[in-house]
Parts: sequence; structure tokens; C-alpha cells
Amino acid sequence: MNTIKIDPDRTLGTLERNVFGGFAEHLGRCIYGGIYDEGSPLADAEGYRRDVIAAIKRLRMPVIRYPGGNFVSGYRWMDGIGPKDRRPPRAELAWHTVESNRFGTDEFVRWCRLIGAEPYLAVNCGDGDMREARDWVEYCNGTSDTELVRMRRRNGSEEPHRVRYWGIGNEVDGPWQMGMKTPEEYARAYTEFGKLMRMVDPDIQLIASWTSGWFDDWVERGQLLLEQAPRLVDYMAIHWYVGNREDDFGRYMALSELFEDRLTAAEGLIDAMRVCRKLERPVHLAVDEWNVWYRTRGDDRLEEVYNLEDALVVAMQLNAFIRHARSVKMANLAQVVNVIAPMMTWEDGLVLQTTFHPFEVYSRQAGSVALDAYWEGETFQGGDQAGVRVLDVSATLNPEARQISVFVVNRSLDAGEVEIVLQEGAWAGAGARWVVNGPDIKATNTRENPEAVTAAEERVEASGARVRLALEPHSVTALTLPIA
Ligand code: AHR
Repeated sequence: MNTIKIDPDRTLGTLERNVFGGFAEHLGRCIYGGIYDEGSPLADAEGYRRDVIAAIKRLRMPVIRYPGGNFVSGYRWMDGIGPKDRRPPRAELAWHTVESNRFGTDEFVRWCRLIGAEPYLAVNCGDGDMREARDWVEYCNGTSDTELVRMRRRNGSEEPHRVRYWGIGNEVDGPWQMGMKTPEEYARAYTEFGKLMRMVDPDIQLIASWTSGWFDDWVERGQLLLEQAPRLVDYMAIHWYVGNREDDFGRYMALSELFEDRLTAAEGLIDAMRVCRKLERPVHLAVDEWNVWYRTRGDDRLEEVYNLEDALVVAMQLNAFIRHARSVKMANLAQVVNVIAPMMTWEDGLVLQTTFHPFEVYSRQAGSVALDAYWEGETFQGGDQAGVRVLDVSATLNPEARQISVFVVNRSLDAGEVEIVLQEGAWAGAGARWVVNGPDIKATNTRENPEAVTAAEERVEASGARVRLALEPHSVTALTLPIA
């Protein structure tokens, strides 16, 4: 029997809404043909796809990272402002195309406002310099009568954009990156970029590019950043992408252990530096690119078609962020549309991919406090990981509504059951559960069959300390119930 034990007083910390963030890059059809589709009958007068806006709003993404990704390491932000017919097309070296620059800073910030998200801009720390970076902060956030602020005003934004989140560079640890940096080079560059950007606007939050390749130097990278720029780092950014190249369901499902190991190790290093260097300001983790991505590695469009097992892995990643809510204060699903994304557009419409559904359910049901759920039960062997629990679990509390949400991924191909025990208080009446599932683990949502995998909602009643839940095979279940 599987059991989950929850004590509403046993909390892990605030679960920031920003863990449900997204990422949009000038890559393939993410911007052009996705977010922005000039001339499309599905776009509004400014060129924004209305169907994409409606679908993204369902995901309630509170923050969107932009404009890359690898793209940003060759990006000149000034190319993307001002009258569109005067914007220069440029050779784009990261994804081997030509960037028209018809979509840029002002269009992005406007789109964020339309979907109710905060913009998070990453500056070019590849082939770009710190002058460009500080100028971008001034263009966006400045209020004095300077040429950059006048430019923004001429471009239609009288009021500052008030961009709060600024990343310095992207995946600087990777040889694929334009302007890759050694740990020492990046710590130096970060310190000077950050110093100047903060001189322009002392209120911005700065995000350091820590690791994406998880190479042997990632500990050294983190340590150097926190030694050299302790007052300039608000978030340490890590990236990962996972997949099922071996077509081995058990091994794929056991990836929870990798997420757990990486987050535990990363927060451990930050903790160690906090004690060692007596850091007083909090330093958070931002998993500012994460997802499943393996089928379309090596191509330039990354139009990955997701199946049900990928949706389970997306849910497992969200569970890991909730369990590590103490340190993970931002996470950005990479990406938001068409490019390794939860939705795929066509000229005449859009399909919600399998991965859309767990993301929507988690984003809508998660409360603001992460709970330290304990669970035990059946186990499986996945790849070389033995004793992995069949269920992958997280839980949250919504203190205002007095509701608990429990998120359970059933990684078995068989149906199961779980008893959820409330260790303090009692379940108190009517709630609901959402089950993300489909006919089999390889099921995908296509234009012809767009609802093979969806989230089904059902009413649930509970009282007393225990509630039993039937679990469908290969499914994600979210249960939200009031407590007395
Ligand atoms: O999201 C696709 C790419 O993955 C990004 O451009 C890069 O940062 C990462 O390697």
C-alpha cells in the first residue's frame, strides 16, 4: 500500500509563483509564427497571436525569460527597437538563420503585460559588452531625461518598463555558447556587468548563469561567483534538459533521483558559501531552463512532439521544485510555444501538447506554502537506480483558503492506490481532483486527435484524517481538499 503523510505545520517555505515561469527565445517558430505572427488572421492588430495569448494565460506564467538562450549571446538589443522597417536584419549564428528584429524589447514587454507576466531579460555576455547591458537597463527602466530614455519614449513607452529580473549571459559554461567563459572569466565579467547594471538601477534582481552542462567545474563556478560577487547575485541559474533516448520507461521515470541530487547539491553549495562567507542576503536558485528535450537535438526548430510519458516527467520536475521550494524561487519552462513547448501553432490554430496539462494543473492548484510530505510504498528499479518509489509526490498549502493540494505521479503501468493521511487536523468536505492521462505512455496530441492526453476533473469528498485515492496507470493526479 502506498501512503502519503502530511502535516500542515511541517512546511518547507514559500512556494514562489515564479517557479511556474516560462522562457521565449528567438529560435525557430517561438517568436515569429508563435507569439508574434504579423498578417495572420489569428493575430491581433499588433501581430500577437490571440490563441497563443489565451493558452498561455491558462498556464498562469508569472514571469517570462527572453530573448535567449543561445541566441542572446550574439544579440544586439538596439537592433530590435524603433520603427520596424528600419530595423536591420542580422545573421543569427546560434540557430543559423537571419533575425529580422521585427520583434524586440518593446514588443516583448507589451506581450508580457498582455499575458500578465513579468519580463525577465537576459543580457548578452557572449559577444556583447557591459555598455550594451547597462544601456539596456537604462532604456527599459530609466526615468531621467537621457537619450536612451527619450528613445524609449519615442518608441511609444512613456513610462519605464520596470524590468525587475536581469540575467547576465546564458549557459556560459558550454562550448556551444558564443563567448563561452571559464569560471574565472565569468566571475569577473559577471561582477563588472552586474556592478554597472545595478548602478543604473539599484532595484533590479540579478541572475547569474551557473551551470547547464553540469561539467566537472560546476562547483568551482558557483563558488567563484559567490566569492567574488556575493552582493550582486540574487539567483544562481541552472539548466537541464532530459529525455528517453534509450526508450526505457523505468529509467526515464527514475530521473526524479537526478533532479533531487542536483537540487540538493546546488542548494548545499549555496548554504556552504552562506556559512563560510557569512552571506547575509539570500541567494536563490533559478532553474531558468528546464524541460524534456531529446528528439530534436541537432536541428534548428526544436519542434518536439511530446507524449504522455514526457508529461509525467514534466510533473516530476514540478514536484522537485515544490520539494525544494526553500531554494528554488524561479523556474522557467523552456520554451513557451512551438520550440520544445507545451503548445504548437498552425496557420489556422493551435494544439495543446501533453505537457501543457500537468503544467496547467500544477500552476493553478499549487498553494503558496510548500509542505514536507512523507511518502512510502511500492518501489521499482529504473536504469541503475534501485528502490525508487513508484509514486513521485509533492504537496502545498493554501493558507487563505485552508486547502491542501497533493500532487502524485503514478510511475507504474498499472493502476494503484494511495492513502493520504493528515497528521494534524482533518479533511473537511468537498474538493476536486485532476487526472492527466491518456490511452498509453506514447500517446501524443495531434491536429487530428488533439485530446488524446488531457486533464479530467472530478469532485472528491473527504472527512476525518484519511482519504484513499485510486490512481490510474501512468498518470498525474492533483488533489485539492479543504482542511478543518
Ligand atoms: O532552449 C533551447 C536552448 O537550450 C537554449 O537556447 C539554450 O540556452 C539551451 O542550450
